[in-house]
Amino acid sequence: MRYLVTGGAGFVGSHTVLALLDAGHEVVVLDNLSTGHRQAIPEGVAFHEVDLLDAAATSAVVAQGPWDGVLHFAALSLVGDSMRDPFHYLRQNYLTALNLVQSCVEHHVKKIVFSSTAALFGGPERSTPIPETAPTQPGSPYGESKLMIERVLYWADAVYGLRSACLRYFNAAGADPLGRAGEDHRPETHLIPLTIDAALGRRPALKLFGTDYPTRDGSCIRDYIHVTDLADAHIRALGQIDSRSVTYNIGNGQGYSNLEVIESVERVSGRKVPWEAAPRREGDPSLLVADSTTLRNETGWEPKFETLDRIVETALRWRETHPDGYGS
Ligand SMILES: NC(=O)c1ccc[n+]([C@@H]2O[C@H](COP(=O)([O-])OP(=O)(O)OC[C@H]3O[C@@H](n4cnc5c(N)ncnc54)[C@H](O)[C@@H]3O)[C@@H](O)[C@H]2O)c1
Repeated sequence: MRYLVTGGAGFVGSHTVLALLDAGHEVVVLDNLSTGHRQAIPEGVAFHEVDLLDAAATSAVVAQGPWDGVLHFAALSLVGDSMRDPFHYLRQNYLTALNLVQSCVEHHVKKIVFSSTAALFGGPERSTPIPETAPTQPGSPYGESKLMIERVLYWADAVYGLRSACLRYFNAAGADPLGRAGEDHRPETHLIPLTIDAALGRRPALKLFGTDYPTRDGSCIRDYIHVTDLADAHIRALGQIDSRSVTYNIGNGQGYSNLEVIESVERVSGRKVPWEAAPRREGDPSLLVADSTTLRNETGWEPKFETLDRIVETALRWRETHPDGYGS
């Protein structure tokens, strides 16, 4: 099968490209390299350096089908930045997706898989694990932009029959177990790579935002899902959308507190993590854990990296073997 992957030079996209190649598929990547890395695209994979804001250039790539599906990872995804510059985030994520989806309809693409987010469920405290049916109430313009795209996809199906899978990831983490890819966000805002870098002495003490949450140890609890398990979920989702669209929450189903992440990194690396308490960040809910029962029941998906230590192990190995990530 032949797939077009937007954002295939980024963290989750590049791991999904590897999973598609491993499964014997042909992959073409579209990316503007704004946060992704050319080196993250495996040799031999066709690459179009295109900005999805450019509707004509996007359409020209989508026209080079036929595609068995399109996977849409490309987006701006820093929650904090979206609070500082909401209209930029709303415009950018919405328009880029709209350009892509419209091109898909014009060029008769039948299936699209979209990277949605648990940030849809931001806002007031609610009980967890969170099922797909929980009310959406984005706590940031970033989350709102993803909800807007889910609605675009709803209408693309209702009017044109473009089937979609909206995959609402919780916290993607880890690295390819074979060491072929890893996490290299710039700036890095994700807790596991930040904690690993603090342990390796590559950054100053880790700031732990909020130690007075109503959780078992006072720090926030999040659901970490290994990026390879996430990639597998995309391939399984493609198999579900021949005749209907779906929405799946994707997480491990287990919550780990920020302090437990620090303990895990210390255990796996054998090094102390220097850290200091900092005030809560605006908009950070205390507890976000996924209920992925629908994905499990409908596709047979099971996370293979079930424990936090296993996830941290792969991330640590990547940082140790790639101290400068993908380089300058
Ligand atoms: N990483 C997570 O924990 C997480 C959690 C929930 C949702 N998501 C979503 O998953 C997707 C991938 O996340 P990631 O962590 O891999 O991000 P990333 O920044 O590593 O990858 C995004 C990729 O998209 C490309 N891109 C951005 N804007 C583009 C544009 N206008 N045109 C073409 N290419 C563009 C970037 O260059 C990059 O390669 C994003 O949509 C993100 O919102 C990620």
